[in-house]
Amino acid sequence: MRALAPGLSQVPMTSTVHVFNGPNLNLLGKREPEIYGRETLAMIEARLRETCTARGMSLDFRQTNHEGELVSWVQEAGLAGEPVILNAGAYSHTSVALHDAIKAARASVIEVHLSNIHAREGFRHRSLISAVAQGVILGFGAASYELALDAVLSGRVTTKPDTRN
Ligand code: DQA
Repeated sequence: MRALAPGLSQVPMTSTVHVFNGPNLNLLGKREPEIYGRETLAMIEARLRETCTARGMSLDFRQTNHEGELVSWVQEAGLAGEPVILNAGAYSHTSVALHDAIKAARASVIEVHLSNIHAREGFRHRSLISAVAQGVILGFGAASYELALDAVLSGRVTTKPDTRN
């Protein structure tokens, strides 16, 4: 077991892992399949759910096209001390609000992208999430999500204790 900084704890194996998806990811499967692949978000969710169930963990998997909704979800998960796998889609490149929410709620975030954003258009090269994420996994298609879940399940993600009360 690795040593952790004071105030940090390893994610308990019985807790919830959140997977939050931003705009246009509801169109996965149909959307630019040469970039994002042919798997739908429901297929990705089903695979992650199978893994979580086998490990006695509950999965909270959601998608929204609305920035404020993502902000609220990140705040809730962060304040609850639960890890977040976040593909914020295009908001990764623009959302100061999401950056602030991760910081404010001290959320433990693994940023994921299906595509390698650094090999694409210049406006995708900068992510406002990366600096406040614990780690970033990108470029492995749908497997980016599985690699992120593996990081959570193997105890590589640190969370703060519940600060809601
Ligand atoms: C994405 C990359 C973003 O640049 C894009 O806006 C998306 C998807 C990815 O998973 O590769 O919507 O986050």
